[in-house]
Amino acid sequence: MQRILVVDDAEVNRELLLEMLQGDYAVELAEDGEGAVRKLQEYQYEIAALLLDLQMPRMGGFAVIREMERCGWLNRIPVLVISGEQAAEVENQCFEMGVSDFIHKPFEMSIVKNRIKNAVELFTYKNQLEQRVERQTERLRRQYQIIQMQAEKLKEAKPFHDLMMQYQSAIMEVETKLRILNAEFSLKYNRNPFESIKSRLKSPESIYDKLMRKGLPASVENIKEKLADVAGVRVICSFPDDIYRLADLFIRQDDIILLKRKDYIKNPKSNGYRSLHIIIEIPVFLSNEKIYRKVEVQFRTIAMDFWASLEHKLKYKKDVQNAEEIVKKLKACADSIEVLDYQMQEVRNEIDRAKE
Ligand code: GTP
Ligand code: MG
Repeated sequence: MQRILVVDDAEVNRELLLEMLQGDYAVELAEDGEGAVRKLQEYQYEIAALLLDLQMPRMGGFAVIREMERCGWLNRIPVLVISGEQAAEVENQCFEMGVSDFIHKPFEMSIVKNRIKNAVELFTYKNQLEQRVERQTERLRRQYQIIQMQAEKLKEAKPFHDLMMQYQSAIMEVETKLRILNAEFSLKYNRNPFESIKSRLKSPESIYDKLMRKGLPASVENIKEKLADVAGVRVICSFPDDIYRLADLFIRQDDIILLKRKDYIKNPKSNGYRSLHIIIEIPVFLSNEKIYRKVEVQFRTIAMDFWASLEHKLKYKKDVQNAEEIVKKLKACADSIEVLDYQMQEVRNEIDRAKE
């Protein structure tokens, strides 16, 4: 239900308007300008229209209109003045100040209702239109920025492509090392420590966004030095203990430099996110040099990965209705997954023992 704010110092008028409107709208009442401003601060754009008396003690109608103008509310909320004032100058002054309609007292109920309905509909449409324009402007601004960046970076295009090729190579190196460990494992223990690997190179757009977020100019140097996740490898394991075993074997290789290790399995994030993250540097051998490039490797179980993909969706959805509720449910799922992961591991151990 849309919310209407009725501002009048005379109780009879408030009661009358409340009576008339309450079937169709949620009605808020204020008995003077100060009360009106408080309600506006509280509800902001939830208020679909304001019915405003002019003569009131403490703060009158004109002062309310000026305050609404100052706060930028006046072009989002229609104001309908309801007044006993007969002078044309007063009415004109109201319109000049930006009110939408002027209704003379004593008023005819059905007409007031229709005029409110019109004003609300008009403003709803106008506000939606403005929001759409705002969104489009924002999109254009971003596109323009990207084009600008591309133009600027055209000079740097070759170094950028070279760098991306190096990150792609670093991903291949990491994948190869992991696949070798997997092959050896499956021969030795007759099972695979990981189920699958998913790799991705960060897109130029995301690289640019991240540098902007960090307040850094987009340059090949900053990408190399300040970003650790341009090359990303995700290793999906069946069981939690495989994660640690595999990660340790991998880190221990003598050409890998471990820069950072974040264990969100032992210390899950408050939302329930669990994974083991490592950032490493790995050498890439080019025709005339050996260079080290950073790679972010995330290890998680199938169940943790299942959870993370679903949770990731929430982050990119705007205007999710019951987001809080979903966050709670996701946390509960994460807790169940933790229990399940370890139960599965226990069952696997029992099966393994039985085989011996
Ligand atoms: P980013 O700036 O997002 O890279 O964060 P960070 O540099 O502080 O590193 P962190 O280790 O926290 O996160 C690195 C990556 O892990 C993210 O880019 C995501 O891919 C993943 N990740 C971290 N936290 C979450 C989470 O809460 N949910 C999901 N779905 N993924 C997460
Ligand atoms: Mg990161």
